[in-house]
Order: sequence, then structure tokens, then C-alpha cells
Amino acid sequence: MATKILNHALINHKLTVMRDKNTKCNIFKQNLDEIAMLMAYEATKDLPLKDYKIETPLTGMVGQQLLKEVVLVPILRAGLGFLDGFRTIVPTAKVGHIGIARNEKTLEPEEYYAKFPSNLDKSTVIVLDPMLATGGSAIDTIDNIKKRGAKDIRLVCLVGAPEGVERIEEKHPDVDIYLGAMDTCLNEMGYIVPGLGDAGDRLFGTE
Ligand code: PRP
Ligand code: URA
Repeated sequence: MATKILNHALINHKLTVMRDKNTKCNIFKQNLDEIAMLMAYEATKDLPLKDYKIETPLTGMVGQQLLKEVVLVPILRAGLGFLDGFRTIVPTAKVGHIGIARNEKTLEPEEYYAKFPSNLDKSTVIVLDPMLATGGSAIDTIDNIKKRGAKDIRLVCLVGAPEGVERIEEKHPDVDIYLGAMDTCLNEMGYIVPGLGDAGDRLFGTE
């Protein structure tokens, strides 16, 4: 699997609420939280498992446990909007943070913060960002975590532009991408169309 577009009725419904320019910050956040849980369910469906022996009250049995630790990596700021929902579904996950802001003129990603747990090489790393536009921020993040040893990487974005998805598939073909929706294109300012505007600004009320 390279890119999976989830095409889920509830995600489509909630995403439409988020796209509406009249939706206020608190409702925007609430819908993003709910979508995060739905996307977490999909993006963790096939996490590798190991056998695990237990005693139920009736008998012994071989059950299953996650084989590897999960590390969530939200791309600041908007990726934080996915974090609570993912941590609700995978409460044992550790969290690495990366701060990246797109330069408004060049659209190039500029990294300003990075802090990760150790053992990325032995973990499943799930990168979180609601918006995948040119793909620059996600590529920068994946380059960074690969340098730190990460090998098993998934990228979860709510809205993608075809240009950005293609760039990531080309640069990091080993990374599985989970998208809530694939939009039409980017405009001349690098915004996804129809999109939902600036996700970070709408999430934190900084418009
Ligand atoms: C937005 C968004 C992504 C990035 C996507 O962040 O949250 O991280 O743009 O664009 P790209 O695919 O072209 O790199 P932004 O740089 O606006 O920072 P913010 O989240 O702090 O607002
Ligand atoms: N970042 C956003 O928040 N929105 C876009 O449409 C593109 C990049």
C-alpha cells in the first residue's frame, strides 16, 4: 500500500463541517479530534503483533500484543490537532515533536524545533499533519526521522493535494500515506483547493 484514501462517511461529514468558512475555532477543533480517532483506527489496523501468553479466568491462551512501540510525531502547529485523538486510541504511544513553518514566499519548510524519543529504529512512527500541500513539511519530517533511524513510517493527513502526495510517493516510496480526502490542486499561494484554509490558524484562532 502506498497511499490510502479513507473515504469514510463520518470523516467526509466532519471534514465538510471543517471546510465551511463559517465554522468557528471550537467546532473546528472538535471535528478534527473526532476525525483523528477515526483515522487512528484505520492507520493502526495492521500494526505488527506478537503472540502473548495469558491466563483468562477460565484457561490459558495465546493472545496478541503490539510487537513494537508506537511513536506519534505531530508537525507543529496543526499536527497537534491530531494528537489527542491518536493518543486516545493508542495511549501507550510516545510522542516526538517537530516544529516546521512554511516560508510564505518560497513555500519551503523551515524547521524550528525537534525533540524525539529514543529507539525510533525499533518503533512504528506515525507522522501527523492535517494538511499535505506541496509535501515539503512532511518530506522534511520524514528525512529527519529517517536520519534518527526510523524505518517503519506512516504519514496521516486529513486533506492532500495530488502534487504533494506524488512528491512523497517519489521521495519516500516506503512510507504508507493515509488521507482523509484528496483535493483538486494547489493555488498560486500553495493553498489546497478547495481545502479548508490555514489549518493551524483555524485550529488555534490566529487568523
Ligand atoms: C501548514 C500545515 C502543514 C504545511 C503543509 O503548516 O499544517 O504543516 O503547512 O504544507 P506543505 O505540504 O506545503 O509543506 P504551516 O507551515 O502553515 O504552519 P502552522 O501549522 O504553524 O500554521
Ligand atoms: N497549509 C494549510 O494549513 N493549508 C493549506 O491549504 C496548505 C498548507
